[in-house]
Amino acid sequence: MSRIVRCKDALAAADSCGHEIMKLLESAITERGSATLAISGGSSPKPMFQMFAKFAWEKVQLYFVDERCVPIDDPQSNFKFANDNWLGPGRFPKENVHRVHTELSPQDAAKAYAVELPQQFDVIHRGMGPDAHTASLFPGEALINDKDGLAAAVWVEKMKQWRVTLLPRILEDARNTVVLATGADKAQALKAVLDGPYDPMRYPCQIAREQAIWFVDEAAGHQG
Ligand code: 6PG
Repeated sequence: MSRIVRCKDALAAADSCGHEIMKLLESAITERGSATLAISGGSSPKPMFQMFAKFAWEKVQLYFVDERCVPIDDPQSNFKFANDNWLGPGRFPKENVHRVHTELSPQDAAKAYAVELPQQFDVIHRGMGPDAHTASLFPGEALINDKDGLAAAVWVEKMKQWRVTLLPRILEDARNTVVLATGADKAQALKAVLDGPYDPMRYPCQIAREQAIWFVDEAAGHQG
């Protein structure tokens, strides 16, 4: 059953989401000795990543929910964003970081990435766009119906950009999913995603809707 954690503002939501992620990883480590986490990009996670930088992560293997097919020093890179705000300052063990190799073609990067993925993630952190996209699955994207694949290259017309994204099967299989959705520009999408009919082709963030813990702020609303 999904759970909604309502926070007063984006900072409080990011903090609460971050502490939930660490709690979930801790129990995975207690149970199995290690844990796997996939994180998303975008701007909302910044304070959460900065908080993560204060903790030790030796037993966590880190992956990316999606990546823009740009060089790793490009400001649009999700790897760069996480590295600048967390992995670098937090001295995250480099050998535990599984980035998408965007130096390859999008198709080859997706193939290589899929091979590296765990069978099942302990925790997946996702964001949501104002159009209800999640990962790099945007409304109308045929890959939303791909129930077998793990990761794929996807052309995002809206951004005129190739990306590599996790696919629905691995998103749905996660032991735990947290979605951080904050800001007034997300209010309409959040209501449709949480309360509307299940239609992930139109509202991709409905993928794994029932399993997820939703961290929202007052601006994004959703009073249930
Ligand atoms: C990406 C993300 C994407 C993001 C949402 C929300 O690569 O852009 O993975 O799915 O989570 O667009 O982004 P904001 O946090 O910036 O609103």
